[in-house]
Amino acid sequence: KTKSSRKRTLRKVRLTPNALLVMRKRYLKKDHKGEPAETPEELFWRVAQAIAEADANYGATEEEVEETAVRFYNLMTSLDFMPNSPTLMNAGTELGQLSACFVLPVGDSLEEIFEAVKHAAKIHQSGGGTGFSFSRLRPEGDVVKSTNGVASGPVSFMAVFDSATDTIKQGGRRRGANMGILRVDHPDIERFITCKHDNDRLTNFNISVAITDAFMRALEEDEEYDLVNPRTGEKMGRLSARKVFDRIVQSAWKNGEPGVIFIDTINKDNPTPHVGRIESTNPCGEQPLLPYESCNLGSINLSHMVKDGGIDYEHLKEVVWEAVHFLDNVIDVNKYPLAKIREMTLANRKIGLGVMGFADMLVALGIPYNSEEAVETAEEVMAFIQRESKAASAALGKTRGNFPNFKGSVHDPEKGGAGPYMRNATTTTIAPTGTISILAGCSSGVEPIFAVTFVRKVLDGEELLEVHPLFEKAAKEKGFYSRELMKRIASKASIQGFSEIPEEVRRVFVVAHDVTPEWHIRIQAAFQRHTDNAVSKTINFPNSATPQDVYDAYIQAYKSGCKGLTIYRDGSRDVQVLNIQKKP
Ligand code: CDP
Repeated sequence: KTKSSRKRTLRKVRLTPNALLVMRKRYLKKDHKGEPAETPEELFWRVAQAIAEADANYGATEEEVEETAVRFYNLMTSLDFMPNSPTLMNAGTELGQLSACFVLPVGDSLEEIFEAVKHAAKIHQSGGGTGFSFSRLRPEGDVVKSTNGVASGPVSFMAVFDSATDTIKQGGRRRGANMGILRVDHPDIERFITCKHDNDRLTNFNISVAITDAFMRALEEDEEYDLVNPRTGEKMGRLSARKVFDRIVQSAWKNGEPGVIFIDTINKDNPTPHVGRIESTNPCGEQPLLPYESCNLGSINLSHMVKDGGIDYEHLKEVVWEAVHFLDNVIDVNKYPLAKIREMTLANRKIGLGVMGFADMLVALGIPYNSEEAVETAEEVMAFIQRESKAASAALGKTRGNFPNFKGSVHDPEKGGAGPYMRNATTTTIAPTGTISILAGCSSGVEPIFAVTFVRKVLDGEELLEVHPLFEKAAKEKGFYSRELMKRIASKASIQGFSEIPEEVRRVFVVAHDVTPEWHIRIQAAFQRHTDNAVSKTINFPNSATPQDVYDAYIQAYKSGCKGLTIYRDGSRDVQVLNIQKKP
């Protein structure tokens, strides 16, 4: 069998014009002139072959590896499933780094801080994103013995990470992304909360405050709480929980940051507490990890899982099992940027299988995003994926062995786990799917549809009208389709005010702006209940929302078991940008 004969039998992938554009710009291997050196089919075959190769470690013959490669190829080219971007870019290449998510520790010494900067640079170069907790750094003004000087504090050091990131493009294809975390009881917390008030600062960071249960209790009782110097463990004064929380709320209301992570909720779900405590997540917040741990993600396209007006569970099950096999293989063929990361990652073997196209699936099922039925559907479909991914991981554990840290983990029967087999310490994560959802041509992650029609400006100033395929179909079937109407809709965010559109269509095609924060959070919480790791989700607020609305959202998220929250108030960042432009 020659390579070319095999290629002829591989099915063609049907990409949208947008997906093709993204493919060419970011994913296809390039020759020395910068021209694409592979077709999309060749890309998927390169990835499929590289990932299938891991089967050989477990006794598969050459033919069996080839069969697996064909199955992986079909899994991706059907657009039923996509691995995270680094896997698509780097599998089967010399670089070979396949994970999107990393967390690095930052120790309280110059050596350790600059070690972390160096490690982050290496990870960014390979296409991964990094999360850091800066909570171990001594506060600003604290003593530095070696120089008789004073410490600069976490926020100053974050600027060093930020400028290092600026100079390195991820895998040569995207800018590096960081998450910066500070515990709410760190003495520099007030400076941290406002550290991004100038939107031109720390542009390569998302920032989040790590909120503890103790803090939430103090907030509820309107009490003060202790600030602790991480260097000495000594108390360094007290702050009113209400005042600090108000600052977070005000700042997030103003420009969407900081986000929050509920660090104790996250650690209650830590599958390997005997190995260490979790102190940070990856850049977009969906993947809590131990220091030096990495995780690869993959997402199932739910818009492909609808059949005869219902969810096609038979097909979904097949895709889940194949995807778990794929993601577990990724761990073995991955080329890790650091020996320590390799060691940690292979010891827990975390994978993050999630979904995209959830909103599209709801539309196909005729269910509005902001409804009880949507919440129930979210629970049902994610509970299924959670259950099947665990079964698939257990089956792999039986044939390939459990993850090395299994003993003492939450999966260990002696610790109350279901055991006796589990290949991966976690199996599920809901990623933002920012780029891979474009490749798959579906709505991103578990977010609502952003717009049913919109005008895309293309390079030469031309304007392209894009209509959501399901909306176009509905419009044509119900006889209200016209280009003029589609254009008019594009100038508004929502179709709710259009009386010429039948009520049953308006009911189903709700967009992000039509969904109140309460419903956004209810959907996030529904997915979180059946996800090992966390859920990437933006809670959209109208421009008219008040700080009190934001406050209420945080409380709702905490009480409903979310692991974090990211909000965005419509137009808030534009205002900031305008302010920046006005500066001399
Ligand atoms: O769709 P894609 O696989 O490109 O990524 P995503 O689902 O939007 O983001 C998943 C994770 O990839 C993020 O949480 C980051 O850890 C990482 N990422 C990054 O490092 N740099 C970016 N520019 C985008 C994502």
